[in-house]
Formats: sequence, structure tokens, C-alpha cells
Amino acid sequence: MILVNSRYFAVWRVLLRRFSIPTTQNGHGADAAAHREYPVKRFVYVIANITALSGLLFGYDIGGSGGTFEMAGFRRFFGWPALGDKSDPAWVANQQGWITAMFSLGCIVGSLPSGFLTDFMGRKRCIIFLSFVFTVGAVIQLVPSGYQMLLAGRFISGVGVGGLSMAATLYQSETAPPKVADFPFDVRGLVVSIQQLSITAGILLAGGLNVGLQHWDEGWRISYGGKGFFSLLLMLLMICLPESPRWLVAQGKSEAAKASLGRIRQEEEVEGELAGIEEAVEAEAQMEKGAWKDLVSPVDFMLYRTMLGFGVQLLQQFSGINAVMYFAPVIFKKFLASEMAILANLAVALVNYLSTFLALYLVDRAGRRLLLVCGGLGMALFTALFALFTSAAFDYQNDKRLAGVIIACTALYVMNFAYSWGPLAWVVSAEIFPQRLRGKCMTITTLANWLTNFCIAKAVPVMILPEK
Ligand code: BGC
Repeated sequence: MILVNSRYFAVWRVLLRRFSIPTTQNGHGADAAAHREYPVKRFVYVIANITALSGLLFGYDIGGSGGTFEMAGFRRFFGWPALGDKSDPAWVANQQGWITAMFSLGCIVGSLPSGFLTDFMGRKRCIIFLSFVFTVGAVIQLVPSGYQMLLAGRFISGVGVGGLSMAATLYQSETAPPKVADFPFDVRGLVVSIQQLSITAGILLAGGLNVGLQHWDEGWRISYGGKGFFSLLLMLLMICLPESPRWLVAQGKSEAAKASLGRIRQEEEVEGELAGIEEAVEAEAQMEKGAWKDLVSPVDFMLYRTMLGFGVQLLQQFSGINAVMYFAPVIFKKFLASEMAILANLAVALVNYLSTFLALYLVDRAGRRLLLVCGGLGMALFTALFALFTSAAFDYQNDKRLAGVIIACTALYVMNFAYSWGPLAWVVSAEIFPQRLRGKCMTITTLANWLTNFCIAKAVPVMILPEK
């Protein structure tokens, strides 16, 4: 529940302010802050907290399943061999791959109509609807009668998250104030950072719950279905929030937009901001719509930009992060007892969460490129060390000290991901495209992320099978 606790939110808000440097590229830096006349309403933070729950759902899904593969009750229920062996048979690895990958497959399907749905239903109703879809998926995962039903639940909650990631981010950016005095980033950067932080919080939460749940025969059901509690909460809380003023203006409902703005801005700001939104919506309507073929045009370096956005997302996934996020307990059991493997997974999730604060501190100070380069080098180094220490040259399966070193390498690898490629793949692909093509470009880059995510989820369990 940490994310809906406003004190928690306030803590990282203070951190952001403290570690910030002004950014000039976006006009929301020191000048903008200095010119902001009215304080941001507290309710804006409440909204940001509530919508960040969508990231928590995403993270919970990523971080929950791997631990269940090392739970005695789960293995018994699905007819897998009992705990004890250092590796699973191929058919179990295949099922592990499908259980994990079904979720990203759902995300792909859910992300495709999300642009249309947010325009058609409105941002708020769309988030409520998708939280409902997610909750249905979570309930199915709570009470599956077998493997197929679990897969169906994973897919349905994936559809919910796939759509929610887009709808919630859009809603957040449309309700955040245009000039944010308290925040060092432009709104997009801030929104992406909130999202990444809540994803890592979700991973941590799922990993933490697994530590306790493994001792209970039915505990795995909570690992899969417990997220339904948060999606239900998101659904109910969203009912109390205002609709996006920008969407209301686009629908020609200026009075409703004014009322909505009245809840999230100081009284004196409402008229001015409403006029600004009306102008922006009008300008957008006049703007020539970009076509799909423009994505590969040399004009404006579009081909280069598309390749860049596609590339960062693809490489984010091929960095192997989800081999760790999804399967750390399965990997660690090669040299640890299952119970310890689940605990070590929690430690890695904690490092992931904490290092994301480092990203908030560094993102505008160091710049995107330097962070990506340093993070990439760090990840390469610790992956190489991991590969070395788990090679035949070392007796890692029996040497306890070496087990500690391998876990440390994993944690340092994750740390390097969390301050760089984790948030920055999303930040970069949100900021390199021109406005008229941004929607299409982000659909493509997000798809690149989830497609590669799917491949990793499906391939890794088979890759960690013992050699014949
Ligand atoms: C990635 C996820 C990954 C997570 C780990 C996100 O940026 O897109 O695939 O599991 O970071 O923190």
C-alpha cells in the first residue's frame, strides 16, 4: 500500500526537489518554476499516486510468477516434480515459459486498441474499464482449475496492463500542471519516472509477498491473484477522480472541462489554462496528421528516430533484465535451496527499486546518453562476471561463498539497469518524436518492447535447462 500513501509520495517528491537541477530544454525548469504563481494543489499528487497503481500492477505481474515456480504447493497443484532438483525437466521449463510469456502477449494485444479506446471512452472511463479487465484476469489466476486456466488469466491481465500503461500515462500527463514548480523534470519525464518507480515497487512487493507465501500450500494463488486487490482499488478510486480536461475540451465539453480543472488547479488558474487547452486542441485539429509511411521517411531524420526508439526498446529487453526479473528464483535454485532463492530474488528486487531513485537523481544531471553508456557498460561487466562464475571453471553449485558473489553480480547488474536503461528506454522513446507522429511512433516502440519481452519470457526457461 506504500504507493497510495501520500506520505510515501511526499518523500520522493522531496527527494526529487532536493536532487534536481533546472532543465532548460523543456521550459519546465528553473524559469518555469520561478514564474509559477500558484502552488500545485495537493489533489494533483493524490491523482499521480492513484494512477501510479497501474505501474504497480505491471510490476506485481513481472515479479510474482518466478517465485511460485519454486513453491511446493504450486508444483504439487500443477503436477510438476517436487522441489529439490537443481533443474526442471524440459516440459516444466516449457510451461514456465508460457505462464510468464502469456502476460506479455496480453500486453501486446491490450496496447493496440488503447489509443482508440482512450479517445472513444475518455481517459478516466478507459482506466476504469481496463482495471476491470485486469481484475477479471487476476480473479481467474486466483482460482484456476489447471494450467490452461492460469494461462487465460495471465493473458487477460496482460491485456489490462497493456492498455493501462498507455491510458494511465496519458491521463497523468493531462492532469499534471503545465508548469510544475515542485518538480525538476518536464511533465513527460516526471510521468515516466513515476511509472518506472511504481513498476519496480510492484516487483518488490510481489517478491516480498512470495517470501511469506511460499510456506503456505495455497500461497501461490495470492502471488498470481493478489494484484486483483490493487486493480479493484484503482478502479474504485478512479471513479472519484475528474476526467481529463483536455479530453473534455476535445469533445466540445468546455463547461465540464472547466469543472474538472476547478478540482485540480487553483481558482485563479482555471480560465487561463482552459483557454490554453482550447488553443492546443484547436491547433492539433488543424495539424496535418502523420502517416505510417512517415516513420521511415528521411525527412526530419524520421527513419533514424524510429530506429533509435525501436532500438532502445529492443536493447532494453535484450539486456536480459527480464531473465532476472521473471526467473531469478529459478536461476538461483541452481546453487541455493528454493527458500533462499526466493529470498535472494527479494534482495535483487530491492536493489532494483532503490536504484531507480538514482535514475531520478541523475537523469537531468548526467543526460540520457551518458547514463545509457555507463549503464550498458556496467551491465556488460556484471553479466560477464556472472557468466564466468557460473561456468564449468567454478564449483558454483557447492561453493557457498561463490553463491554470494554471483548474487552480488546479479544485484550490481540490476542496479546498472535501474539507473539507466530501465527508465531511459521509455524516456528516450517519449521525447525523440515530433508531436504529429508521436502516437504512432510510441505504438511501434512499445510493441518492440513487449514483443522482445515475450521472446525472453518464452526462451529463458529453456535456455537454463541443464546441458545434455
Ligand atoms: C522494463 C520491464 C522490466 C522493468 C524492471 C522496465 O523498464 O520495461 O520489462 O521488467 O523495467 O524494473
